[in-house]
Amino acid sequence: MDLLDTLRMRRSVRAFLNESLSRELLESILADARNAPSAINMQPWEVHMVLNEERKRLSRRLLKSFRERAIMCGPGAVQPIPDKFMSRARECSELMDPFVQRMGTDFKAFVNEGSLNFYGAPAVALVFVDSCFPEVRWVDAGIFLSYLMLAAAGHGISSCPVGLVKSYEDEIKDHLNIPDQKTFLISLALGKPDSQAAVNEFKSPRIGLDQFVRWIE
Ligand SMILES: Cc1cc2nc3c(=O)[nH]c(=O)nc-3n(C[C@H](O)[C@H](O)[C@H](O)COP(=O)(O)O)c2cc1C
Repeated sequence: MDLLDTLRMRRSVRAFLNESLSRELLESILADARNAPSAINMQPWEVHMVLNEERKRLSRRLLKSFRERAIMCGPGAVQPIPDKFMSRARECSELMDPFVQRMGTDFKAFVNEGSLNFYGAPAVALVFVDSCFPEVRWVDAGIFLSYLMLAAAGHGISSCPVGLVKSYEDEIKDHLNIPDQKTFLISLALGKPDSQAAVNEFKSPRIGLDQFVRWIE
């Protein structure tokens, strides 16, 4: 598929088929994603691929912690978030809600427990950077994540970035035996979409250029 078509059609999928992805396919996706640029080509990312039964086992651990700690999806902020951003988040939830309702599920439970279950995906990529780096290197990992999503889409595989699991970083490191000097940033659920699931019909809107671009000439 053409790159621009891929950019325009990609969306987060929140219901996956319980169908394994081959190691060969995942390697092709990762090999394409590694073309992402990075500062002085350091490629500071590290990816832990958790598959099939191991993915389910990880989710059981995360869901157990969720029941104890109840940290839910939210914007995360170090200062009050201006209303223009909050209203975009609200709008997204309000627009997605009817699709989730059609599946007979409560929205909050769907998003929180669904995220920790990686929406049933057979594979999840956990993206880390070495803690030797300053936070600015997280940009490199973010670019890598974009490449990973688009490479997956290019190979016919759907995805959903799942940031909620950042709040369960300690559990992830403990469960997968990952040393403390790795900083966990984000996960990406990967799989084939369940085309019967109403939530996968949802496409989130975007703001106009006039709302985020300033031209100086
Ligand atoms: C950094 C980041 C964290 C995210 N975390 C979650 C999450 O925990 N759960 C979830 O369902 N979606 C999550 N998403 C998906 C966003 O909700 C989604 O990208 C956004 O609504 C735009 O929709 P689209 O990806 O379909 O274009 C995350 C996306 C990003 C980029």
